Amino acid sequence: LLKVAVIGAGSSYTPELVEGLLKRVETMPIGELWLVDIEESWWKAEIIYGLTKRMADKVGSKMQIHLTANRADALKDADFVCSQFRAGCLESRIRDERIAAEHGMIAQETNGIVGYANACRTIPVALDIAYEMEELCPDAWLLNFTNPSGMVTEAILRNSTTKTIGLCNVPVNMERGAMELLDADSEDFFMQIAGLNHLVWARQIIHKNQDKMQFVIDEVLAGNDKMRPQNIAQFSWSKALLKNMNMLPCSYLRYYYASEDILEKEIAKNSKAVNRADVVKQIEEKLFDVYKDENLNEKPKELELRGGQYYSESACKIMNAIYNNTGEIMHVNTMNKGAISGLPDDCAVEVSAIIRSSGAHPLSVAAFPEDTLRLLQSMKTFERLTIESAMKGDVETGLRALTINPIVGTGVKLERALKDTLIQNAHQLPQFK
Ligand code: NAD
Ligand code: G6P
Ligand code: MN
Ligand code: MN
Repeated sequence: LLKVAVIGAGSSYTPELVEGLLKRVETMPIGELWLVDIEESWWKAEIIYGLTKRMADKVGSKMQIHLTANRADALKDADFVCSQFRAGCLESRIRDERIAAEHGMIAQETNGIVGYANACRTIPVALDIAYEMEELCPDAWLLNFTNPSGMVTEAILRNSTTKTIGLCNVPVNMERGAMELLDADSEDFFMQIAGLNHLVWARQIIHKNQDKMQFVIDEVLAGNDKMRPQNIAQFSWSKALLKNMNMLPCSYLRYYYASEDILEKEIAKNSKAVNRADVVKQIEEKLFDVYKDENLNEKPKELELRGGQYYSESACKIMNAIYNNTGEIMHVNTMNKGAISGLPDDCAVEVSAIIRSSGAHPLSVAAFPEDTLRLLQSMKTFERLTIESAMKGDVETGLRALTINPIVGTGVKLERALKDTLIQNAHQLPQFK
């Protein structure tokens, strides 16, 4: 029987994961589920623990469920570790998004100055977990959702021997959205994606042996876009930009392709001082009220308001694919090793890959056109410098990272925002002296 550990189990997303695990008892026999969180959020963790037990009881599951603040107990001899913690918790995201907005910058938890701060808080903790796993469960797989997922995954892949795969719900949403447009089912549908986390394009969309890329792009341009996660506001793509691209950008590409439009909207909205993190706080308060109800024994509808909806689909699917050596194709963050030419071999990329017990084996990717390759290269440099800055606690490297990021400003404006961010984060960044 399998042992699964969830780090950051107090997350309001956890019931989705639990639902997915309980649905797969036939193919994936889980003996123990260990929920890990920290004292600071214990009240949340206890509510999730209660709901998890009720969900398991409802379906007559015999899985043992543990709640602990002792990570080592959970990691010891685990088979799968699902990482979904938020270093510094939601309060830190709220604070960082406010700083960005005050400086007239995009307030996005995985990119720009907010993503940089998030990476600096998170990477040291993520590495500690990976190092502990080397000792306590060297055969286990680490499935990382913790954001910024691409950078966290690369930091681990380059610095630890722990077997790690990074995941995100964005490619899942793209796939679901395209399948809905095509009225397709999974047997006769294929999508290949490639790029970096939150910077991917669909490179192939095939339905019933026919290339449907242009069809899907045209539908999206006509406003039929079900691929957008809830945390990204409704928008329309530029027809001129997408018409002949022959690749379908993920919603996050809007931050690059229409940065000014987004900033204008954010500034208008900010007369009311509401960033996404503030909205999440309200959603979360309601969710935990619902979760507390002793009569609730399933995942409630309200969880669909969160941007990470369907993340558990990839978590559960990949555990199953690894455990049963299925060879199915999934979209994952893994070492490039030549899959995307023009990016370093030893960097994390988000690509479609064959999943076996041996891990993720990327499909080959057709060369990217020059404009998109340049964007990927710049952002990979941002990511690598950010990882270096986060690990060394080095401000200057952070400034160089952000300077090359096209969605962040430069010069005095940037230096002021960075200084503010680091001062307000200081208590959570012991590596910066
Ligand atoms: P959250 O604020 O609810 O945090 C989840 C839990 O992590 C909290 O209960 C918190 O106490 C806990 N935590 C913090 N530090 C910890 C530590 N050192 N050890 C153990 N637990 C710790 O966050 P959320 O909004 O539910 O999101 C959780 C994480 O998953 C975030 O990093 C988020 O960005 C990420 N996420 C990623 C995707 C994706 O596509 N990759 C999708 C959804 C969420
Ligand atoms: C998804 C992303 C996640 C992100 C989340 C934000 O789009 O893939 O990486 O963390 O949404 O959702 P939230 O509800 O927290 O704003
Ligand atoms: Mn994501
Ligand atoms: Mn810049």
